[in-house]
Amino acid sequence: MSGVKAVGVRVALDRKPILHGVDFAVASGSWHAVLGPNGAGKSTLLRAVAGILPYAGEIHVGGQSVARLAAKHRARLIAYVPQEPQLPGDMTVGEYVRLGRTPHLGYLGVETRDDRAVAGRALERLDLTGFATRRLGAMSGGERQRVVLARALAQQAGLLLLDEPTTALDLGHQQQVLDLVDELRSTEGLTVVSTLHDLSIAAQYADELTLLVGGQAVARGTAREVLTEERIAEHYGARIRVLDDGEGRPVVHLVRGKGR
Ligand SMILES: Nc1ncnc2c1ncn2[C@@H]1O[C@H](COP(=O)(O)OP(=O)(O)OP(=O)(O)O)[C@@H](O)[C@H]1O
Ligand SMILES: [Mg+2]
Repeated sequence: MSGVKAVGVRVALDRKPILHGVDFAVASGSWHAVLGPNGAGKSTLLRAVAGILPYAGEIHVGGQSVARLAAKHRARLIAYVPQEPQLPGDMTVGEYVRLGRTPHLGYLGVETRDDRAVAGRALERLDLTGFATRRLGAMSGGERQRVVLARALAQQAGLLLLDEPTTALDLGHQQQVLDLVDELRSTEGLTVVSTLHDLSIAAQYADELTLLVGGQAVARGTAREVLTEERIAEHYGARIRVLDDGEGRPVVHLVRGKGR
């Protein structure tokens, strides 16, 4: 089980309060989207849940306090894909994805055939098999984004934290990645927490959403409950229209200004 329960999470960065007591809960095996305008604190919240940022309050993953987990144990429980990963340009795609297996290696750190198979399968799932020997420095932005996801899948953690996982991807690869994550969620019981700027995509994939504004959760619930025209207009300062996709999920459109 890898659900998340966070109560009163507060984070300060360089002594500046960024999160002001955020509560949120994610049922094991569900997909939760964290939405909000730039600077709202979405990435900060994900980093706190990933256990890589000091926080006050409580964050439990699978019933265990994140702050108290040893790094190796934490990496078996939580896979985190940052918004802007720093990649070693000299490393090959295959080597990098195999790093995802590090928390599973035994005392001597030797890879087994199983570890290589899991990494190979992750490459395959993200259309990267042909790139295994390519250096990371020679990959496009979208290809690199898929490599980082492949590494996270190779980690086989129960909780996947994805910070804007589709920003660099073309339409086909966006769908491939989101469908793949959703399939893993439904077949293997993975719990997913992702930030997503595309509200319509969030509405398609997430079971529940939290709208974060100025470091506080201002709304949470299903897409229909959270994504109302008034609320989005208010918090994003945008002219938008919310339509229905025909299956009860909201689709959020920008409305063009008057121009000249
Ligand atoms: N090291 C830091 N010191 C001070 N403030 C910081 C630091 N890092 C981030 N911030 C501020 O914290 C706030 C939240 O940042 P965060 O990256 O969590 O936002 P976000 O919601 O992910 O935004 P985006 O949509 O642009 O990705 C921002 O106002 C940012 O400027
Ligand atoms: Mg961010």
